[in-house]
Amino acid sequence: MNRHRVLNPANEQVVSVVKETTAHEVDAAVRRAAKAQQSWAATAPADRARLLLRFAAAVDENIEELARLEVLEAGHPIGNARWEAGNVRDLLDYAAGGAERLTGLQIPVPAGIDVTFHEPMGVIGVIAPWNFPMPIAAWGAAPALAAGNAVLLKPAEMTPLTAIRLAQIGREAGLPEGLFQTLPGSGRITGTALVGHPGVAKIVFTGSTQVGKHIMAACAQQLKRVTLELGGKNPNIVFADADIEAAAAAAPMSFLDNSGQDCCARSLILVQRSVHDRFLELLAPAVESVVVGDPADEKTQMGPLISAAHLETVRAYLEGDTRAAIEGSAPDGPGFWFRPTVLVGLDADAPLVREEIFGPVAVVLPFEDESDAVRLANSSRYGLSGSVWTRDVGRALRVARGVRAGNLSVNSHSSVRYWTPFGGFKESGLGRELGPDALLAFTETKNVFISTEG
Ligand code: TAP
Repeated sequence: MNRHRVLNPANEQVVSVVKETTAHEVDAAVRRAAKAQQSWAATAPADRARLLLRFAAAVDENIEELARLEVLEAGHPIGNARWEAGNVRDLLDYAAGGAERLTGLQIPVPAGIDVTFHEPMGVIGVIAPWNFPMPIAAWGAAPALAAGNAVLLKPAEMTPLTAIRLAQIGREAGLPEGLFQTLPGSGRITGTALVGHPGVAKIVFTGSTQVGKHIMAACAQQLKRVTLELGGKNPNIVFADADIEAAAAAAPMSFLDNSGQDCCARSLILVQRSVHDRFLELLAPAVESVVVGDPADEKTQMGPLISAAHLETVRAYLEGDTRAAIEGSAPDGPGFWFRPTVLVGLDADAPLVREEIFGPVAVVLPFEDESDAVRLANSSRYGLSGSVWTRDVGRALRVARGVRAGNLSVNSHSSVRYWTPFGGFKESGLGRELGPDALLAFTETKNVFISTEG
């Protein structure tokens, strides 16, 4: 029997030991889920909504406990962790409202009527990463449940605790047995069993582009439906006509939030050449003043990286003659700490410019004009998010439309709201989550013609 030790990344202490779900146990879980799903789909939408609202209220009552678990297993600052637990509540609330609004069409046809239904798919597998364990689990689970499906959630091996607790809270709130189960374990054993199981109708995967491609290929064997939320290397484009003070003040947390372990991190800062030096002058004190330290401390803005292995990966990017132009602080001693780091003067094709570092590291590159900025932004294989800073509304719209990415923000770095759609272009993913259409991604459209002739 495999067991995984969950470590606190801030001090390397063992927080918990969690047993891996075997392939045999995944099979049993799929059977329980399939049974629960049959009666869930037959439950009146208003009753499904009522139960999901109860689930949301129970999450709300347990926000502090969930947030503390997130601090322990993921090293997120407590303020962020509370927001994340609240986001689960909000996602459940929002999805619950969709259950009764999942309306089909009535399409004019001769000799009868034609209507469409959005049928639930069945059992949905949600595979979550370690960087935002709670919100990403709920992005998939909440709309899938509201649309009449059962959900099997496989959290990342390093961060299973909030996912385990969420399934318990769901049961305590009255969700039927088997409807929402958490299956902790590795991607290799538990994840593979879930993806390959013929009783699972769809996989919602969030994680690396490399594993996402593998999962898409595995799903293709059964034509299993798949949504992929993958990596990003996101541009923050600052034009000379922007409010440079505001752009520089907002830039640090746009790549340091969650220690840069954020698929939407704006880690490629493109600054128009005429304000490049001024921007750096303003950026330096803003980065240096970010509070990095104990995640349980209310004042902390940035915690550690998730693991020793990930710390090594991030460090490796900065080996050689790379010199930081700006460096923040980080604690010494145990824990997987890395200082906020800003680099300048790199070639546009350097790995630090092109690859997702997934750490607190940003690169600043100058650009000449609007078309140069769009060209640099679009030279990435990713297309998840990006920001445009300018006072010119026309330019803001032209550039936001010109960048090949799913989520753009103007004079802001906000990418994710549960009531607006989210997802990637190019190698950042496939499909969309969140927003008004979130439930549709967990349904199959059925068309029914009813003859009125005799
Ligand atoms: P991955 O290594 O890809 O892992 C993600 C999840 O997939 C984990 O639960 C992992 O399990 C599981 N997994 C790994 N191999 C699998 C397999 N062969 N079959 C089934 N499941 C498998 O990513 P990560 O390192 O945890 O997360 C970081 C990456 O996620 C970054 O690239 C980041 O950009 C991306 N990300 C994207 C988004 C969006 S919304 N686009 C959001 C967050 C993160 P184990 O960890 O237990 O092995």
